[in-house]
Amino acid sequence: MPLPLPQPQVAIRAATPEDLPQVMEIESLGFEKRWGHFEFKASLEDIFLVAEDREAGRLMGFIVACCCRLTRRGMILRLAVHPDYRRQGVARALLEAAFEELRRLGLSEVVLDVDVVKGGAQKLYEEVGFQVAEVISLCQEDEEESFYVMRRPL
Ligand SMILES: CC(C)(COP(=O)(O)OP(=O)(O)OC[C@H]1O[C@@H](n2cnc3c(N)ncnc32)[C@H](O)[C@@H]1OP(=O)(O)O)[C@@H](O)C(=O)NCCC(=O)NCCS
Repeated sequence: MPLPLPQPQVAIRAATPEDLPQVMEIESLGFEKRWGHFEFKASLEDIFLVAEDREAGRLMGFIVACCCRLTRRGMILRLAVHPDYRRQGVARALLEAAFEELRRLGLSEVVLDVDVVKGGAQKLYEEVGFQVAEVISLCQEDEEESFYVMRRPL
């Protein structure tokens, strides 16, 4: 059962090419290693949802997910919320909407990677039902190079 949207003026809908400049602005505020226009344009073919503040006429956040045909698993590839709208339940609502889309594709599990140093994001994922399945360390001395693989049934 999807959670109620954080505010009544918030709409979650499929991204369009016109959303890409705002998506890329949110991306630039959320990540150091950024996706470029090409990745986002290609993602319009996948599950690519945006949360829009209809009153203000601006995007609050976005999520990109896809179906891995080989493993029959859903994957969350990208999630970010504009700093102006954080801690209002927007990411949680985007995740729930993406789960719904993945269930519609007949998938029964969703996975994602999260950097070990991103404690806030990890807490968010645990709250919506993900559990750490594996820890991957690319460099043993540097925690910043480590990430968790998290899984959740759909
Ligand atoms: C991580 C991110 C997407 C969270 O978005 P958000 O809309 O603020 O998250 P929500 O409001 O839905 O958070 C739901 C719950 O998750 C947890 N949470 C979210 N962000 C947190 C943070 N920075 N610190 C601690 N807990 C956090 C809290 O428990 C929160 O509930 P609460 O606000 O009632 O305490 C956002 O901070 C962001 O865009 N960060 C930069 C990009 C990024 O790291 N993306 C994830 C990559 S894996």
